[in-house]
Amino acid sequence: VIFKSSDYASVIIAQEIAGLIKEKQDKQEFCVLGLATGSSPIKVYEELVRMHKEEGLSFANVVTFNLDEYYPMDKNNVQSYHYFMNQHLFDHIDILPENIHIPNGTIPQDNLHQYCIDYELKINSFGGLDFQLLGIGRTGHIGFNEPGSHYNSVTRSISLDHLTRSDAAPAFFGIDNVPKRAITMGIGTIKKANRIVIMAWGHKKAEIVKQTIEGPVSPNIPATYLQHHSNTTFVLDQEASEEL
Ligand code: GLP
Repeated sequence: VIFKSSDYASVIIAQEIAGLIKEKQDKQEFCVLGLATGSSPIKVYEELVRMHKEEGLSFANVVTFNLDEYYPMDKNNVQSYHYFMNQHLFDHIDILPENIHIPNGTIPQDNLHQYCIDYELKINSFGGLDFQLLGIGRTGHIGFNEPGSHYNSVTRSISLDHLTRSDAAPAFFGIDNVPKRAITMGIGTIKKANRIVIMAWGHKKAEIVKQTIEGPVSPNIPATYLQHHSNTTFVLDQEASEEL
């Protein structure tokens, strides 16, 4: 779906998420959301916060699992995805702290493998993700599933691509400060979600958007795996769609 502006597109995505939350509330069920970071979802979160403040949308039945976190990374670090999520969403809504899950970038190396297994099990214990929100990196990554990721991959630690680290460099005041690794949900984890919305805004994403939508499914561009997911919508602004 192509929208004129990312602002309007973000409102439409937020409305879908709010609709799902309310539907689950009516059934007295949890609504399990997979959430993303980066610049792409900021306006979606802004609109959800507005709906909470102005329209009384409650997040009391919402359980969240974030896609990824840098490794190593302290939760209080301004570049951490913990900090990002608090700043843009969690600090402004009525979600219960125990319902928030974000991969922990401070887990000691020796415990990391087991930690990732447990993160995956925790998602499954809620019956999987009802909805997964995604951005896309210029390598074609979703979460931090870089090129080479297997379609059945689960939550694990990975090495970041040079392009991903260079895109993150401004936020870290130089590429040397960008962590070389991250924890990410796998492609298999993401693909089990009932519904997936992936967003891309701006010229910089136009090339990878074309390859993801029109190219063959390939581990070289992990986002192409979504072509095999039956309930995924790719939401674009005009600039991101210009190579299609
Ligand atoms: C990071 C995140 C991804 C995100 C991507 C794109 O690498 N791990 O989840 O989709 O950046 O970021 P942006 O939305 O800022 O373009």
